[in-house]
Amino acid sequence: EDEAFLAAFQERIDAEMKIEPNDPMPEGYRKTLVRQISQHAHSEVIGMQPEGNWITRAPTLRRKAALLAKVQDEGGHGLYLYSAAETLGVSREEMTDQLLSGAAKYSSIFNYPTLTWGDIGAIGWLVDGAAIMNQIPLCRCSFGPYARAMIRVCKEESFHQRQGYEIMMTLARGSDEQKAMAQDALDRYWWPSLMMFGPSEGSSVHSSQSMAWKIKRFTNDELRDKFINATVPQAEYLGLTVPDPDLKWNEERQSYDHGEIDWDEFWRVVKGDGPCNRERLRNRTRVHEEGAWVREAALAHAEKRRERAEA
Ligand code: ACO
Repeated sequence: EDEAFLAAFQERIDAEMKIEPNDPMPEGYRKTLVRQISQHAHSEVIGMQPEGNWITRAPTLRRKAALLAKVQDEGGHGLYLYSAAETLGVSREEMTDQLLSGAAKYSSIFNYPTLTWGDIGAIGWLVDGAAIMNQIPLCRCSFGPYARAMIRVCKEESFHQRQGYEIMMTLARGSDEQKAMAQDALDRYWWPSLMMFGPSEGSSVHSSQSMAWKIKRFTNDELRDKFINATVPQAEYLGLTVPDPDLKWNEERQSYDHGEIDWDEFWRVVKGDGPCNRERLRNRTRVHEEGAWVREAALAHAEKRRERAEA
């Protein structure tokens, strides 16, 4: 890749032109996108597990129907994103192998357990809230297929977020026991939700290049701050306490200052040693193996149709 090519590519990016799959692109740009989009897809698919855990135990028929639809949406987002990544020349099989072998990451947040119904509220409110904050700027990502996929995904995520907040509202206005359940879910999901945005400036190895390529539009810390600023008033409205004694409005920055994030915990979870990492991958592997006959049957059917068409 000569300098003239890289400079011309950067000029297109700077002019806010979308890059499409058949356009020439630097190998690093392609690799970064395959990494990010595939990891995003894996997160959606693995993310079905913590909430799927509560479908059979949702407290009412209405809650069950909404949760079922939400978990299906997440599977749909995963498929959408795998398709976007495939336009960059990587196959679905390769991406799946990378997930199951542990070579590819997925979001740290989905390695935490869902212990109570309150966690389903907290996931919708906080986890989907964080996902929206991170994904709205991705609608302006320089790579066309990813940006376009994000538009629909964000619409659905915002419904998921409201669904979660409504669960929290119901619990927060309920009996003492229900209020305690809501507070406990917030206590356990607050810090892991902040970790979703990724490491801080110094440790975010990909940020500066991804921002120059307009894949990312904000740093991890900027998005984390935006999320905190939007979410603290929502917690206040619920009458719940954010579990951070150092949380304080900073008049000068017009933003909340927050306590230290436990980065040791973050890296432990990212590297496979969180509370549910093994269970999540074990389930995903089992389901993949159980579905082998469906993939084989679909291939055999496609082959037969091709032979018939040729005959
Ligand atoms: N969980 C797991 N791994 C993470 C997380 C996290 N929360 N945050 C960062 N990492 C990883 C990165 O993937 C990278 O590792 P890699 O080189 O093996 O890929 C490493 O930590 C360093 O981080 P960064 O340099 O900051 O990486 P990047 O520029 O890719 O930023 C981010 C990370 C913000 C997650 C980005 O990839 C992104 O915006 N992805 C799309 C959104 C997404 O994946 N959301 C998933 C959760 S939302 C949902 O599914 C409902």
